[in-house]
Amino acid sequence: MRALALALVLLLALPGTAYAQGGHDPRDLRDLARKNGIRIGSAVDVAALRAEPDYRAALNREFDHVTAENAMKWESVEPERGVHTWDDADAVVRNARRHGQKVRGHTLVWHNQLPAWLTAGVEDGSIGAAELREILREHVTAQVRRYRGQIRAWDVVNEAFEDDGTMRQSIWLKHLGPGYIADAFRWAHRADPHARLYLNDYNLEWSVPKIEATLALVKELKAQRVPIHGMGFQGHLGIQYGYPGDWANVMGRFAELGLEIAITELDVRMELPVTAEKLATQAEYYTRALTDCLSVRACEEVTVWGFTDRHSWVPEWFDGEGAPCLMDESLAGKPAYDALLALGKVSGR
Ligand code: G3I
Repeated sequence: MRALALALVLLLALPGTAYAQGGHDPRDLRDLARKNGIRIGSAVDVAALRAEPDYRAALNREFDHVTAENAMKWESVEPERGVHTWDDADAVVRNARRHGQKVRGHTLVWHNQLPAWLTAGVEDGSIGAAELREILREHVTAQVRRYRGQIRAWDVVNEAFEDDGTMRQSIWLKHLGPGYIADAFRWAHRADPHARLYLNDYNLEWSVPKIEATLALVKELKAQRVPIHGMGFQGHLGIQYGYPGDWANVMGRFAELGLEIAITELDVRMELPVTAEKLATQAEYYTRALTDCLSVRACEEVTVWGFTDRHSWVPEWFDGEGAPCLMDESLAGKPAYDALLALGKVSGR
């Protein structure tokens, strides 16, 4: 007993320990997540996971949740009809299991990154509506069943609406009608009754027509007893656009419908060159996003869409913009990373 007490005192006295610092500053994002009763995740670039030990070490040190950036998309898992290539997706899931990370599956039904055999077949009419619906059912069922019990949450339907609140005229809407959404959720639930099933979209942080249309869809799905469990806010922000000040309130409105909430693809890009001032604004946006999520009891996860500027989609898609991540190309924490850790324990969870 005396030895234990002594050890405790020594621990308290040791410089550098949490207690000695008194501020309980978390040592990394996993620690921050644990202290606040939330999950903090990152999208995973599978090529970097395989080839870059420093990338892999940082991913597994910092994050308790992961999303495959591209490896689980339809074009990646079924490049030829009936020929499945799961290796990349398996590699993300295997790494996650080894490092105590939960996994978000991304994404089952989307208008982008579809295999050419599918889009060509629909276009030339060789795949008709009935067959397309059957192909979609088989795809959702096969992928969800393969990872049954290994995926915490699926982005079942991604980007179903335009910013003006109209339904996106995707291959799914055009050929299957709006019922494709309810179908996909039901098929996914049948294949894994324990996975949390999400609708996921961008600009939902601020676009009022899109917010209202998505809320109306969720109410409709709930009324039809469709197994929808969560709303994913992608959160692709830019410091040149101002921070979406009503975000927490919008999250709250979806939570009132009984949904879990997640920020699924957070990044904060800037017009280059990088300056200290822009980095300070970026840090403010990241801390506000986390704080907004923590202010909504139903918000359980904040995932960044890549954690290092070495691997980000932004430069390819936004000319003259970049540096959207928490760490720079050498994996050094940027002011945003330090600002998140400095938040410490902010939630009463
Ligand atoms: O697979 C090919 C490879 O064979 C080829 O050698 C290489 C060179 O051109 O391109 C590879 O395809 C790239 C693919 O990512 C896989 O890496 C495409 O060019 C590239 O455009 C594609 O970009 C992805 C983008 O979705 C496509 O829509 C981004 O990495 C990915 O971050 C981005 O993620 C989306 C989310 O899924 C949904 N929300 C928005 C988010 C950002 O657009």
